[in-house]
Amino acid sequence: MASKLIAPSMLAADFGNLQRDTEMVNNSEADWFHIDVMDGHFVPNISYGMPVIAAIKKHATKPLDVHLMIEKPERYIEEFAKVGADIITVHYESTVHLHRTLRQIKDAGCKAGIVLNITTPISVLEDILPECYMILLMSINPGFGGQKFEDVTYQRIKKLRQMIDQQGLNTRIEIDGGVTDKNIEKLVDAGADTFVAGSHVFKSDNPTATIKKLKTLANS
Ligand code: DX5
Ligand code: ZN
Repeated sequence: MASKLIAPSMLAADFGNLQRDTEMVNNSEADWFHIDVMDGHFVPNISYGMPVIAAIKKHATKPLDVHLMIEKPERYIEEFAKVGADIITVHYESTVHLHRTLRQIKDAGCKAGIVLNITTPISVLEDILPECYMILLMSINPGFGGQKFEDVTYQRIKKLRQMIDQQGLNTRIEIDGGVTDKNIEKLVDAGADTFVAGSHVFKSDNPTATIKKLKTLANS
């Protein structure tokens, strides 16, 4: 299986010290920056948009993994690419013309992925999987950091892993929400390879050491 990646979620960073927290991620064993964009419609919360992403990009030395929790994301793909997104994932539930949106992301020069809410069946991915660099499975209801991980995620990962293997693809499986050093090994065993961690990293006493621990556990 592909090497396991850690993507700290900047939603849990200290926005008053964004450069400091960006550099912490640069200097850690993390692989990507996870960037959560919320519009107050698709999810009941508003996070941040282009200016903040541009500010992170200015100092980031690792790819930006941009998770769009916005309605009709096709309206903004080019703008997110322009401010520095490297990977853009859109919710299956947020756009009618998913195929067109994925093409749009790739045409903008980014890697494209789909996100599924917890109750959206894995089976909807069957025909679109070859178009995806990555599938992000939500392990919480999107909108807020610091929520409790939902155990149904394990069986969903297994189903998706089976589908990816059956189609002979190497699509990444990213997990987002409530990931900690207590569940990351079990998530790897189920078949996931990419892990978002927000509060577990940034609310810890030593975020750099926490990232290192997650990376070590995921790759052990
Ligand atoms: C929530 C976001 C997550 C969030 C994860 O909608 O998609 O990326 O930052 O936060 P934790 O790791 O605290 O659950
Ligand atoms: Zn996210």
